[in-house]
Amino acid sequence: MKNIVILISGGGSNMAAIVRTAQQEHWEQRLGARVAAVVSNKADAKGLAFAREHGIATAVLDHRQFPTREAFDAELATTIDSHQPDLVVLAGFMRILTPGFVARYAGRLINIHPSLLPAFTGLHTHQRAIDAGCKFAGVTVHQVTAELDVGPILDQAVVPVLPNDTADTLAARVLTQEHVIYPRAVARMLQK
Ligand code: GAR
Repeated sequence: MKNIVILISGGGSNMAAIVRTAQQEHWEQRLGARVAAVVSNKADAKGLAFAREHGIATAVLDHRQFPTREAFDAELATTIDSHQPDLVVLAGFMRILTPGFVARYAGRLINIHPSLLPAFTGLHTHQRAIDAGCKFAGVTVHQVTAELDVGPILDQAVVPVLPNDTADTLAARVLTQEHVIYPRAVARMLQK
């Protein structure tokens, strides 16, 4: 069985979309894969309850308890590795990862970013797209490399920016597409 480990920091709606798709599309039988664990750096991440309700192992590692980024990432890797991961999925995991962590999972670490990369790396992507006068925005799933929000693109989806959009209304429209493309990209990675 291939093991997927999903990292979250908040709502976990992308994680939930992956878990639901895995159930609906019978990934265990069809892909020999399952979501083995959900790990959060925040104890109050809403997605943890969803994961527990679906019988998925969860773990919380509070980054504030660690003296350095390297120390946090080392413990994070130990936690992830206890689930023998074939794929590590960043789903709204709002921590910058150290080069050592990224190298450890090279080729099996993916992220979702709420912009059409290479445009708008970093934070506040929706407001920045509106401010720039973009007519279209979107979302990108990509392989994670040492540089933030850079790395081979696996999938993208485009949504229109509407005249009265706020960052919140645009984010909601993008998020709907995130829930479509992320499970699809995960499934493709598992078929490799
Ligand atoms: C998603 O919009 C995701 O693209 C974004 O955080 C949100 C998490 O939502 N990720 C980033 O901004 C990464 N830089 P979720 O917790 O409901 O999946």
